[in-house]
Amino acid sequence: TVADGDYKVADLSLAEFGRKEIRLAEHEMPGLMALRREFGQSRPLAGARISGSLHMTVQTAVLIETLVVLGARVRWASCNIFSTQDHAAAAVVVGPEGSPQAPAGVPVFAWKGESLEEYWWCTEQALTWPDGEGLNMILDDGGDATLLVHKGVEFERAGAVPATGAADSEEYAVVLGLLRRSLERDGGKWTRLAGGIRGVTEETTTGVHRLYEMHRSGSLLFPAINVNDAVTKSKFDNKYGCRHSLIDGINRATDVLIGGKVAVVLGYGDVGKGCAESLRGQGARVVVAEIDPICALQAAMDGYQVATLEDVVETADIFITATGCFDVITNEHMARMKHQAIVGNIGHFDNEIDMAGLARRGDVTRENVKPQVDVWRFDDGHAVIVLSEGRLLNLGNATGHPSFVMSNSFANQTIAQIELFTKTDEYPTGVHVLPKHLDEKVARLHLDALGARLSTLTAEQAAYLGVPQEGPFKPDHYRY
Ligand code: NAI
Repeated sequence: TVADGDYKVADLSLAEFGRKEIRLAEHEMPGLMALRREFGQSRPLAGARISGSLHMTVQTAVLIETLVVLGARVRWASCNIFSTQDHAAAAVVVGPEGSPQAPAGVPVFAWKGESLEEYWWCTEQALTWPDGEGLNMILDDGGDATLLVHKGVEFERAGAVPATGAADSEEYAVVLGLLRRSLERDGGKWTRLAGGIRGVTEETTTGVHRLYEMHRSGSLLFPAINVNDAVTKSKFDNKYGCRHSLIDGINRATDVLIGGKVAVVLGYGDVGKGCAESLRGQGARVVVAEIDPICALQAAMDGYQVATLEDVVETADIFITATGCFDVITNEHMARMKHQAIVGNIGHFDNEIDMAGLARRGDVTRENVKPQVDVWRFDDGHAVIVLSEGRLLNLGNATGHPSFVMSNSFANQTIAQIELFTKTDEYPTGVHVLPKHLDEKVARLHLDALGARLSTLTAEQAAYLGVPQEGPFKPDHYRY
């Protein structure tokens, strides 16, 4: 249950609406509901105290409540300032059977439209358990919760937080400020907290990238499961999820007809593939920009024009970054774009588009049209429409991926939490992926709902292929 005042959401009175949407979502999340049926009695997560940092949406509400059904206690923050659905956050606080007067659910610290200060405060609240109890698991998306713990430990070991440098981003300055105040209050908080953590399960490409970097540099403090690279995560959520939610975000933000326009997708990985397909589905002429020759060739063979941004920056209508890289669209690019070109990012962080550089220019003014839609007008008269201030537009301008695809991702998250929490000894410090039989299990849990009927190998066929009759069916190096 939620202790008095131990949560912060926009408006608890939205809980009833949130609950109705959560119930609709549950039907569309067969993987999570099957895990509730399988593990609701044995409760393998009993004793787990999970701090979550992941977009606080309706689908995430179903994940949170699944973790609770499996025995866990949970605290939550969103992993983006714009991605919270306030009715979902309220419903999770109130709990399935609760009422606004007596919250009975999970402490959530998230609302749509947080400032950066508020965002990191929320992350700290999700990581800070009351009564001196520590968390023992992190469930992360993009790695901000993991980063805060690691930076806290690093600075406690050093005995001080470094001064903010001129090259530090506004956001990193906020993190440094938070940790400075934290160290003044209690110089051992993060070290104590990290000591109790059995591990982290990480949702997305960018967060996974950070984990491998930390492991390579020897600074990773606890084991991690890379949920993103479960096949039933990245080849589904990143691709089919973005295929759904990219145009949803563009439509809600601008209502501009996509058909006939030239749309540029930067990055043709899993996310870019889904984005390009959705734009083509609307009748856009899609151009792909890639740095990896394999992905560039894939885009060409899929029928897209492959060009550099330079080639099309002055003529295209819609620009979408999906790279996980930084400065992919610079402020100079935006200065050269066509009048009312739409610029949006669907990668994890806002630095794919040089928003800081745009804001620093002397020849441009920002006019807010509505939440998460800004027109940046240049002195020469042309303007660009920037979605969600350069943050992931499918969650900022729309409601992110739909339930069914998130059921795949979150079934992997739930299984990863069970693995790390119950088999801690089998996962040394490092970054691990789930075994393939669990990946196949997640897929299996979603076939019935789509009326898909799976064929089965005969014993002889299985022997011929050299695989077990019940799977796993592919070697680990198979790429799907
Ligand atoms: P990926 O690694 O499969 O694809 C990224 C692609 O961008 C790669 O093919 C890479 O070669 C290319 N790239 C990198 N720098 C580039 C540059 N400067 N110009 C052109 N291309 C460049 O990664 P994935 O899974 O597609 O994820 C991309 C980003 O989207 C990550 O930040 C990830 O965390 C995020 N993500 C966002 C989701 C959402 O709902 N908004 C869902 C899933 C992932």
